[in-house]
Amino acid sequence: EPPEITKQKAILRQVTDMMHHLLVNTTSGEAALAYLTKRGLSQATIDHFEIGYVPGDRQLMKKFLDNREVSYDDQRQSGLFAEDDQGQLYDRFNDRVMFPLKDQYGDVIGFSGRVLDAQASQAKYLNSPETQLFNKSEVLFNLDQAKNQFKDNGGAVLFEGFMDVISAYQAGVPTGVASMGTSLTAEQVSIIAKQTRHLTICYDGDAPGQHAADRALGLVGNQPRLEVGVVVLPDGQDPDEYIKAHDAEAFQKQLKHTLTPIGFRLAYLAQDRDLSSDQAKLDYIDAGLKEVAREADPVAQSVYLDQMSQLTGVPAATLAQSLPQALQTAPAPAV
Ligand code: CTP
Ligand code: MN
Ligand code: MN
Ligand code: MN
Ligand code: MN
Repeated sequence: EPPEITKQKAILRQVTDMMHHLLVNTTSGEAALAYLTKRGLSQATIDHFEIGYVPGDRQLMKKFLDNREVSYDDQRQSGLFAEDDQGQLYDRFNDRVMFPLKDQYGDVIGFSGRVLDAQASQAKYLNSPETQLFNKSEVLFNLDQAKNQFKDNGGAVLFEGFMDVISAYQAGVPTGVASMGTSLTAEQVSIIAKQTRHLTICYDGDAPGQHAADRALGLVGNQPRLEVGVVVLPDGQDPDEYIKAHDAEAFQKQLKHTLTPIGFRLAYLAQDRDLSSDQAKLDYIDAGLKEVAREADPVAQSVYLDQMSQLTGVPAATLAQSLPQALQTAPAPAV
């Protein structure tokens, strides 16, 4: 590792410890700690993820690093600061709950800070900018911990957000990683594929989450080694909300209740359509049969045709008659 990288990592490590200390041991962190406690996080969980807090004064981090004789250039490289017109640095993060972001070896490479009460005027989460250490497109939150659990716990579970990973961890699911939003990247997929052959996608149950899950399946399709399942949570809830509304056991059951990629596509294609109209029904059948045609196993095909039959009221046997035609226009079967 180049000395420059080692030095930056040492800075972020010190800052992580300082922010965690502020959250758990000082009066300035009391409101943030109360916020996290209200969201159901235990002290042990807060420690495990090394969650922290930065107060609102915009000079705290600056003074902290000045006192430790960290140079202007090194401070500037750290991604912890913004810069005014005179080139003076001031804290990028203020009055936020801080989540350390780590590489797969557990070294802190950046941060994401959440506001305590979400107002439309500011971003709910603010991340470190791209730095020598931090490249958002190849970071998966919690991969450093989760990867050691994949083997014994059925592979990776992919969530959107920090709180989904953290609530899942508290609910007995240690295998969660987060893409940190809905824009999963090909790099992130390939990093997952290097660690496990089993992936469960569990994005938010709302429309953006479902759209993102569909997009994620497209990316994952380029990794034939990965066996993928998709969980669709009810009522538009995200995993954290689902766990709050139900319990750990119900959540673990949901994670076992996976749709196959084709099964998900059949449900997803039905979502945007009003299947009470004949035209929409015919469009849906057209699109759906193309999905079913990607399946080589006749038993699985029959399961999917039943699924389509239930949604459209068209007998499965009738749908099956149109399958050879769909086969001709469909891409090669997924292996
Ligand atoms: N995100 C981000 N910047 C934002 C909003 C979201 O980086 N302004 C990322 C975060 O990693 C966040 C994830 O996208 O965890 C999912 O976003 P969303 O579902 O909107 O937030 P939640 O994770 O549900 O946030 P919370 O439960 O804390 O309200
Ligand atoms: Mn601690
Ligand atoms: Mn979301
Ligand atoms: Mn969410
Ligand atoms: Mn949430």
